[in-house]
Amino acid sequence: MYKDKIEEIKKELQEVFKNINNLNELENIKVEYMGKNGKISLLNQMIKDIPNEEKREFGILVNELRSLFSEEYDTAKNNFEEQELNQKLASEKIDITLPGRKIKRGSLHPMTRITEEFEDIFVSMGYTVYEGPEIESDENCFQKLNLPKGHPARDAQDSFYLDGEYENYLLRSQTSTAQVRAMEECTAKGPLRIVCPGKVYRRDEDATHSHQFMQIEGLVIDENISMADLKGTLELFCKKILGEKTNVRFRPSYFPFTEPSVEVDVSCFKCNGKGCSLCKQTGWIEVLGAGMVHPNVLEMSGYDSKKYQGFAFGTGMDRFAMFKYGIPDIRTIYGNDIRFLKQFDRKDEE
Ligand code: DAH
Repeated sequence: MYKDKIEEIKKELQEVFKNINNLNELENIKVEYMGKNGKISLLNQMIKDIPNEEKREFGILVNELRSLFSEEYDTAKNNFEEQELNQKLASEKIDITLPGRKIKRGSLHPMTRITEEFEDIFVSMGYTVYEGPEIESDENCFQKLNLPKGHPARDAQDSFYLDGEYENYLLRSQTSTAQVRAMEECTAKGPLRIVCPGKVYRRDEDATHSHQFMQIEGLVIDENISMADLKGTLELFCKKILGEKTNVRFRPSYFPFTEPSVEVDVSCFKCNGKGCSLCKQTGWIEVLGAGMVHPNVLEMSGYDSKKYQGFAFGTGMDRFAMFKYGIPDIRTIYGNDIRFLKQFDRKDEE
């Protein structure tokens, strides 16, 4: 009789396991058969009605049934777990064959690049980089540079003045104004060695002139400074920025804030001095204004011109950028056209 019962459960189990759909159902089945009041567990209650000589066999059969259940249970459980994992993997699958999105790299603006080149060269010679404001007083921009009101040399710098109560202020027309600021800020009234790169403004507009452009100013003050220091420094600088083969020549010139004053030409780097359209067939290109700091300029900013001498120089950095990078029109430098700027991707540094 108990054999029938066991056989019945065995058969039932085969059907039951066939019809389970998920782990949840499987757990319910486990409770139904193997739980405290489960169908298999309850078989044990039959033992008291079984004759002694059959008890052993009964035990064996119940154990077999238990083993059968456990086997089926484990197999089903493994299957469902595997299925679940596969589903999860399928839903979280990343297609690594898709090409990645390329990160667009920016590039430094040509003026930033050339400014860094200038700064690097002068910093390597012991200069510090000094920055001044773009709105400047007439006093700092002109008067203290030996250009009093009405001085004819002011005409060369057609300037943008502010209105009303600020009429004595202008958008600085030259970075030379940094000379005045640096000297006045130097309370010790001692040695100085600065370069000041920055924007300047003049009423100008054509292919080689823009109302806004960039200059760099240099000032060295110390005892026993001579024209030889000026020449050596600027020759070295020109060779560093334009190439070792560059020849440099100095021509006498006039600037109100320097005496004597010079203009510095470099041999044309396009034709190597033979003469071409860039150098207007002369073989030379003018690049810098310079000179020995005028004693008046030193004195006006509190320096003892008997003890100290200095030299100063200034140049347009846009021109160097145009030469070095082959830019024909200065206006493209400030136009912010991405097609132009893209050409300065730092391929060399990739
Ligand atoms: N500031 C002058 C200009 O804008 C350039 C210059 C000339 C600067 C001679 C100097 C200098 O320091 O000594 O045209």
